[in-house]
Amino acid sequence: MPLSSSVSAVRAHAHPNIALVKYWGKQASGDNLPAVPSLSVTLDELVAETTVATAEQDLFVLNGTERAGTTLDTKFTRFLAYLRANFDVPPLHVESHNNFPTAAGLASSAAGFAALVIAIDEHLGMGLDTATLSGLARVGSASAARSVLGGFAGLRGPSFTANQIADQDHWPLRIVIAITEHEAKAVSSAEGMRISASTSPYYASWVTSAHADFDAAERAVHERDFTALAAIAEHSCLKMHALMLSSVPSLLYWNAATLSCLQVIRQLQADGHELFFTSDAGPQVKAICTPESAALVQAQLRSVPGVKQVHNVGLGARARVVN
Ligand code: DP6
Repeated sequence: MPLSSSVSAVRAHAHPNIALVKYWGKQASGDNLPAVPSLSVTLDELVAETTVATAEQDLFVLNGTERAGTTLDTKFTRFLAYLRANFDVPPLHVESHNNFPTAAGLASSAAGFAALVIAIDEHLGMGLDTATLSGLARVGSASAARSVLGGFAGLRGPSFTANQIADQDHWPLRIVIAITEHEAKAVSSAEGMRISASTSPYYASWVTSAHADFDAAERAVHERDFTALAAIAEHSCLKMHALMLSSVPSLLYWNAATLSCLQVIRQLQADGHELFFTSDAGPQVKAICTPESAALVQAQLRSVPGVKQVHNVGLGARARVVN
């Protein structure tokens, strides 16, 4: 029987989020605690739909394929082990589907784990509060802690449960996403972070400087100061890629089309348009812009050779049950 038609199955939706102040690097102690604070926007339209039901044994199906033995399955298994150490959780059949590329720098694990904790909470009648749900999502994937919330979300210590800095109606920004590759990345974020933390000569100053970046970005969001947010977000993104590039072995997540998109964005900025870029552990480019600039930015990025698809989305809501 398909899971979606099971009476007791619970379905949840969560959106990916894009960090404007980046998380890259973990604390040495367990439970997947980040080494730096981060701040994100949750997106609308792109969505992970996750359905959970009690089963005879754990089963994880992503985009129609059983994931036993993959990196994603390892994360899922580790997450369930953590959950079971703290709560009474039966074997679960989990099916998840993304309407966007998986593991390609579009925060698919963020949306997936956020939807998963929301669905499990509802299915088992746990009644957990938002902070606890966000903390659980973080154990699965730290960026998922932010996707539990809508709008602008912050994730910082000591608790590393996300809090909402402003809701999705606070500032009507658009995020134009240029997809330059549909394939999953070769080096996972978790592995990349391990490599950067132990080999990049810049890692210590990355960790130290992240706190001021977070504070400045939080202020810029509250004040709707586009120029200030643009400067901090591009700097945080480029510092993270500098860490990646200076790691041994070096981590180059960009391709030629990524760089072409950045050049187009630089030119639009020089022409006086309000937009800035960010990019994660993958070759996609995200341009954050005002609603007035969005159509032009979308058209320009679509014409870049190597760009396969362009999404133009707004800010999204928190993760939720949709039964
Ligand atoms: C570059 O949250 O995917 O997107 O905690 O190991 O699952 P894990 O890592 P993940 O890393 C996200 C890294 C990033 C920046 C960010 O989203 O802050």
